[in-house]
Amino acid sequence: MEKIRLDKILSKSGFGSRTDSKKLIRAGRVAVNGKKALSSSEKAYPENVTVDGKKVEYKEFVYIILNKPAGVISATEDRKKETVLDLLPECYNNYDLFPVGRLDIDTEGFLLITNDGPLAHNLLSPNKHCPKTYYAETIRKPDETEMQKLREGVYIGEGVTTTPAEAEYFKNGILLTIYEGKFHQVKRMLEAVDNKVTYLKRLSMGNMKLPEGLETGEYVEVDLSFVQNA
Ligand code: URA
Repeated sequence: MEKIRLDKILSKSGFGSRTDSKKLIRAGRVAVNGKKALSSSEKAYPENVTVDGKKVEYKEFVYIILNKPAGVISATEDRKKETVLDLLPECYNNYDLFPVGRLDIDTEGFLLITNDGPLAHNLLSPNKHCPKTYYAETIRKPDETEMQKLREGVYIGEGVTTTPAEAEYFKNGILLTIYEGKFHQVKRMLEAVDNKVTYLKRLSMGNMKLPEGLETGEYVEVDLSFVQNA
């Protein structure tokens, strides 16, 4: 690993913005190899940097699984509505995080938030056919013929017929696994069989699952080795 500017190290260790790092350095709280740091443009290896004598925990990439609640939007910023990033604490402010793909405002469930562009690209690339499993409740229970249509592919408008999917009954609704990610796909698929989604929650993406016990609105930071298998 190459040496990195101190302000970048500090901001990617949860110590805030460049301005915050300058303040820390000016206050004499930052050291490199035990020697007081003088400038935020100084370069160092993260493992040699301390704040108040404590080694910093530098992370280039952050991976967060959020159980998205309804009412927040899957975007990095919005002038009116709360975004998924607003649900995270300040220590994540300087990692340039973004949600991997979108869930509708009224959809709950699995959402990966990261700053790992290549990983996001891999998960979203149409060529990779990344599976996404949703739990959907509808205004009426689809019959077996309709379930079979969902499995085989339905016309959802705008020239799009969905590719083969998995569909089974589960609790009060259905589990639907799709291998593509068209706009409002699940809702449009159910509309295609004369139904309507009343509740939608994503349970998994690739081989990453919504962790058991992670309540709506809660998040958990996961480690790279876990996500690399996605
Ligand atoms: N399909 C939908 O219709 N909405 C979502 O949020 C995700 C998939």
